[in-house]
Amino acid sequence: MSPDAVHHQDNSIILSDSNLLKTHTIILDQGDPEEKRQEILDYFHKTFSLYETLFECLKDDNAFYARANSLRHPLIFYYGHTAVFFINKLNVAKFIDTRIDATLESTLAIGVDEMSWDDLNENNYDWPTPKKVKAYRDKVRTLVDHFIRSCEITLPIKQTDPLWVIMMGIEHERIHLETSAVLVRELPLDKIRPHRFWSKICQSSGIAPENDLLPVSGGKLTLGKGQSNQHFGWDNEYGSYETRVEDFKASKYLVSNQEYFDFVKDNGYARENFWTEEGWKWVSYRKAEAPVYWVKHSGEYKYRTMLEVIPMP
Ligand SMILES: [Fe+2]
Repeated sequence: MSPDAVHHQDNSIILSDSNLLKTHTIILDQGDPEEKRQEILDYFHKTFSLYETLFECLKDDNAFYARANSLRHPLIFYYGHTAVFFINKLNVAKFIDTRIDATLESTLAIGVDEMSWDDLNENNYDWPTPKKVKAYRDKVRTLVDHFIRSCEITLPIKQTDPLWVIMMGIEHERIHLETSAVLVRELPLDKIRPHRFWSKICQSSGIAPENDLLPVSGGKLTLGKGQSNQHFGWDNEYGSYETRVEDFKASKYLVSNQEYFDFVKDNGYARENFWTEEGWKWVSYRKAEAPVYWVKHSGEYKYRTMLEVIPMP
C-alpha cells in the first residue's frame, strides 16, 4: 500500500488526488507473491475510487438518468456496471457462488456499443437509484477486498487463477473510466457541478506548429500477444495475425484544433469522400458538423472540457 493511501475500517479508502492517478500496469509473472497481492489490492481500490469521482461530477440524481448520448445508456448504468462485472465474472469462474443483488447484477450487466444501434428504448429499462447503486458498490468493494486478501496466489498469475479475474475486473473498470468520462463530457452543463479533481485542465495553449506528413515504409506486420502472461490480456489480444502494410504517410504532430478547424471550415463534415463507410453513417446519424466537444456560440467554436466551456485552446 502506498504511504498516502489510508484504509478505514469499512475498507473504503481515502486517497490523495495525485495518488489516484499514479498507477502502472501490474507485472503478473515476477516478484514476491504477498507483495503482488498488496499491489493488486492497491490497484483495485485506486481504480474503484477514481471511477467513483467521475460520478461526483453529476449535479443531482436526475443527471444520472439524462441521456448524454442517444446511442448510450444513461450514466446510472455505467455507475453500477463496473461493480456488477466483478461479481458476475467471479460467479462465472466459480470462485464465488453468492449474489449481492441478483436484480442489479442482471440489469446492469450488458452495455451497448455506440456503433451498433442496440436496444435503446428507455422504456425497456427500470433503472435503480444512485443511492442504491452506491450502497451496492460499497458491498462489492468489501467483497473484492476480502477476496484479494484471502485468495490463493502463485506467480505467474495465470488465466485460470482467481487474481486473473480480479485483474479483468480492474482493467474493465479502467476502460469504462475513459468511456464514462466521455459521457459526462457530453452532458449539458446544468447537469454538472465543479469537482476538485476533474476541474484541473491543461493551462498551456498557443499557436500550433506547422504540421507535416512523414513517409513510413510498409512491410510485414504481426499482431498478437503470444502466450506471455506478463501482463493481463483480453481474449482477443491472443493468437497471431500477419498482414502486409503498404507505404504510408503519418502526420509529424498530433492534429491540433487549429489545424482541424481548416477541415471543419471547408465543410469536411458534409463531404462523404473524406469518411469511411462506418464513419459516414455516424456523421449522418449524429448530424455532426464538428467534433463532439466543439460547441458553437454565435458563429464561433468554443471548447467543452469535462466540466466547463472555455475559449478554444
Ligand atoms: Fe463493460
